[in-house]
Amino acid sequence: MVPPDPIFPDDAFSRIDEGDDAAFYAADRFVSHLDSNALATVAGLVEQLVAEEQPTILDLMASWDSHLPESLTGATVVGLGLNRNELESNEALSEYVVHDLNEDPVLPFGNDRFDAVLCTVSVDYLTRPLEVFREVARVLKPGGLFLVIFSNRFFPPKVVKIWREARDEDRVQLVKTYFRLCDAFHEPRDFASVGKPRPAGDRYAASGLPSDPIYAVFADRRGGARATRELPNIGAGATRLDPELLRQMKRTIARTLLCPHCEEPLSRWLVPQTPFIEWSSTYQFICFNDECPHYVGGWKTFENQGIPGSYRFMYDPDSGGCHSVPVLTPTSLRASIVTAEVSHDQSGIR
Ligand SMILES: C[S@@+](CC[C@H](N)C(=O)[O-])C[C@H]1O[C@@H](n2cnc3c(N)ncnc32)[C@H](O)[C@@H]1O
Repeated sequence: MVPPDPIFPDDAFSRIDEGDDAAFYAADRFVSHLDSNALATVAGLVEQLVAEEQPTILDLMASWDSHLPESLTGATVVGLGLNRNELESNEALSEYVVHDLNEDPVLPFGNDRFDAVLCTVSVDYLTRPLEVFREVARVLKPGGLFLVIFSNRFFPPKVVKIWREARDEDRVQLVKTYFRLCDAFHEPRDFASVGKPRPAGDRYAASGLPSDPIYAVFADRRGGARATRELPNIGAGATRLDPELLRQMKRTIARTLLCPHCEEPLSRWLVPQTPFIEWSSTYQFICFNDECPHYVGGWKTFENQGIPGSYRFMYDPDSGGCHSVPVLTPTSLRASIVTAEVSHDQSGIR
């Protein structure tokens, strides 16, 4: 086994659930991990980046759908994953292998076999990513493409700590680091599609949340004729939220009182009575979900500045403003959560 690279902390690739992956993934999960607009972006990315007419593709960490565009119906696709039933029902696959990459990162394929290796919404589950990336380089033809696609959704207990604690931008850099440390690829490039509208009819459509963001990092194995691929142009992708979308999201928060980051209900929070702060209303609404990505990411942001603490999402019902309120510990501010409307007089706070 290649030792972890010294640039990563010792526990970077630890997980909340260190149990056997093969046993965990033995249960079938015929679910969609992304909304349909995000899936269309994935297929568009693959279409633009996989240039060969009849390529041989490895779908790494595959399940029941490889999200391939119609242009690749002539491709030979090999799937590697952990659930036999999901792989068996994946119509894109010509063959598949059940193989635990965390148990054994050596890919069961010969050298220089594939034109492209795709890894969709799964890189965050790799506990030995550098070994796997080096193996991907080995099984790719020189000049072959490794395309790593991810979003901001994942199953926390099985995801490595360094990914769980990072923000989306940090994750793009992390995957680039995996590529660079392999020393087998050209300089990786990245792509982001953020803020597209949620598909109508989607079960979260009413929440006002945008479509699942799509990030991709990709690079060619060195040694091929081509230096780099063109950056995909899939349109409608944006790096900032559209102002109208933002207004719509605020209206949705006012109506549903759900946190826009985790979709959990906001708690009614009684503002403190102090002569030094003028609150516009008696209550604010705060997200106290400890799994909320806004709160989880906040610990990392504060840590980078040498401050212990994080922040929680807060909604002001009077002004309609959305804020981040700092907290020093997981229990900070919780004492003032109220379940029913009470006046300050009743609460005894003066
Ligand atoms: C979120 S799903 C994504 C599936 C698929 N790539 C897609 O885009 O729908 C994560 C996949 O990673 C696979 N996986 C998780 N841990 C793995 C491991 N240790 N070795 C191989 N595959 C693994 C699982 O089988 C699961 O299908």
